Amino acid sequence: MVTQTGQVYRRLLTYSRPYTRRIMLAMFASLGVAGTDVAIAKLVQPLIDYVLAKQTMELVNMAAMVVIALAAVKGISRYVQEYFIKTAGQMVVQDLRNDVFGHALDLSMGYYAKTPSGNVVSRILNDIGMLQKSAADELVAVLREGLTLIGMISLLFYNDWRLAIVAFVVLPVAVLPASYIGRRIKKYVRKSLSNMGTLTAILQESFSGIKVVKAFGTEGMEKEKFQTENRSYYQRVKKVIRYDAATAPIMEILASFGAAGVLWYGLQRVMNGELSQGQLLSFITAMGMMYGPMKRLIKTNNVIQRAVGAAERVFELLDNPVDISDIPEAVELRNVRGQVCFEAVDFGYDADLILSDFSVAVAPGETVALVGSSGAGKSTLVGLLARFYDPNRGRITIDGQDIAHVTQESLKQQIALVDQETFLFHDTLLNNIRYSNPEASEAEVRKVAQMAFADDFIMEMPDGYATVIGDRGVRLSGGQRQRICIARAILRDAPILLLDEATSALDTESETIVQRALANLMQHRTTFVIAHRLSTIIHADRILVLDKGRIAESGTHQQLLEANGLYKRLCDAQFGEQN
Ligand SMILES: Nc1ncnc2c1ncn2[C@@H]1O[C@H](COP(=O)(O)OP(=O)(O)O)[C@@H](O)[C@H]1O
Ligand SMILES: [Mg+2]
Repeated sequence: MVTQTGQVYRRLLTYSRPYTRRIMLAMFASLGVAGTDVAIAKLVQPLIDYVLAKQTMELVNMAAMVVIALAAVKGISRYVQEYFIKTAGQMVVQDLRNDVFGHALDLSMGYYAKTPSGNVVSRILNDIGMLQKSAADELVAVLREGLTLIGMISLLFYNDWRLAIVAFVVLPVAVLPASYIGRRIKKYVRKSLSNMGTLTAILQESFSGIKVVKAFGTEGMEKEKFQTENRSYYQRVKKVIRYDAATAPIMEILASFGAAGVLWYGLQRVMNGELSQGQLLSFITAMGMMYGPMKRLIKTNNVIQRAVGAAERVFELLDNPVDISDIPEAVELRNVRGQVCFEAVDFGYDADLILSDFSVAVAPGETVALVGSSGAGKSTLVGLLARFYDPNRGRITIDGQDIAHVTQESLKQQIALVDQETFLFHDTLLNNIRYSNPEASEAEVRKVAQMAFADDFIMEMPDGYATVIGDRGVRLSGGQRQRICIARAILRDAPILLLDEATSALDTESETIVQRALANLMQHRTTFVIAHRLSTIIHADRILVLDKGRIAESGTHQQLLEANGLYKRLCDAQFGEQN
C-alpha cells in the first residue's frame, strides 16, 4: 500500500479547507449539543441534593423551565451542527469527484489501454459514494460524540476522580480491539470496492457489447461472470458486517467491567458516608451518558476506516501520473502550414517496438497513404501524430515545432481525425457534428453534412438534425455513422487530416461520393490516409509501405508497382479483385 492512513486523512482535510467556516460553525454548535448534555448530567446532583431538600415551588418551576430551555438550546445547536457539517461534507465530496473525473480525463490513452473504463467509473461513483456515506455524514458524529465525551470525562473527574479512574481503567483495554477491528474493516472495504470495480467493468462490457452477447447467445456466460464477482463482493462485505456487528457487543462487555467497578466501589463509599447518594447517582448518570458516545465513537471509527479504505483507492487514481501533459514552457501551435516530420521515432506500447528509428518528412498539403499488413503500425503512426502517445525516442514535428513542446489544445486544434471507431454521443445529430466546432452555425453544419453525403438521410429522419441518437448511435447504420463522423471532421477545418479507414463502412457507391468530398478537403491539407480501397491510395501523392516498424517502400502507385516489391504483393493480395 502506497498511502499511509495519516496521509489519507491529511489529504481529505485539504479538501475540507475551503469549507473551514462551515465546519467551524458546526463545531461551535457541537459545543452547544455537548454542553447541554453535560449540563443535564451535572444538574442531576443539585436537583436531588438541593431542590428536594428545600422543597420550594419556585425551585420546582425553575427545574421544569431549565429542562425545556436546555432541550431548546440542544435542538437548535444540533440542527445548525448537522446542517453545516453535512453540507460541508457534500461539497468536499463534490470537489473530490470533480477532481477525480478531471484527472481521469487527463490520463493518457496508454492508461485506458491498460485499465477497463468500468473500473474508473466505479472509483468515481462507488468509491467516492462510500466516502460520502461514511466520511461526510459521520463527521457530525465524531464532532458531537467527541465533544460530549470530553465533557463527560471532565465532569466525571471533577465529580469524583477516584471513581473516574475506576470507570476508565477499561478504556485503554478497549482501544486494542477497536483499532484491530478498524484495520480489518478498512482492508475488506478496499477489497469489496475492487470487486465493485470489476462488477462495473463487466456491466459496461456486457451492455456495450450487447450485440455480440446476443449474436453468440452468451447471456448465460455473462450472467455467470457477474454472479461470481457479485458473490465475491458479498463475501468481503460479509466480513465488514461481521467486524462491525461485533464492535458494540465487545465494547459493552468491556464497559460493564467499568460500570461494575464504579458500582462496587461507589456504593461502599456511600455506605461509609464519603459520598452523597446524589453524587453517586450523578456520577452514574454521567457515566451512562458517556458510554453512549464512546460506543458510538468506536462505531464511528469503523465507518471512518471504511472511508479511508475508499479514499485510498480514490487517491490511487488521482496519483496516476498524467504522462502526456503540456510542458511548463509549452507554446501555442498557430498558423500551421502543415509540414509534418517524424524524426528517428521509436515507439512501442510495451517492450516490443512497433516503430523503430522511423523517419519521414511530409510537405504541407501532401497526401500520404499508409499501407501495410494489418498490425503493421499504421494506426499507431496516426495516434502518435495526434499525441495519444509519446515516442520512446525521437520526435515528431509540425512546421518544425516538436509536438511535445506545444500545448495539447493548440495541437488538437490543428488536427481532424476520422477513425474506424465511429463513436457518437447520445445527443442530437446537430450537436454530434458540431462536437468538433461548437461555435458552428446550423447552416455550416448542414453544409459539411452535405459534403459528407449525410444531409439526405438526416433530412429523412423525423426530427432532421434535431434527431437524438442512442449512446452508440444504434439507430444509424454503420455507413451513416461514418458519414456523421466525416462531417464532424470536415467541420473542424484543420490543416492536418487523419483518416484511419474513414470510409471502411461505406458501400461502394456512397464511398465514391464521400471520397470526392474528402478529396476536395484534402487539397489544401496535409493528409495521412489509411484506406482499404485502392482508389483512395492511387491518388495519394506518396505511398508509404510499412513493414516491421520501418518504411519498406515509398513512392507513387506507379513507381511502387514497377518496383515489384512488397507493395505489389500487398496490392495483388488486398486489391486484386478491385483492379
Ligand atoms: N493500445 C495498444 N496496446 C498494446 N498494443 C497495441 C495497442 N494498439 C495496437 N497495438 C499493437 O500494435 C501493433 C500495431 O497496431 P496498429 O497500429 O493498430 O496496426 P494497423 O493499424 O497497421 O493495423 C499491433 O501489433 C497491435 O497489436
Ligand atoms: Mg489500424
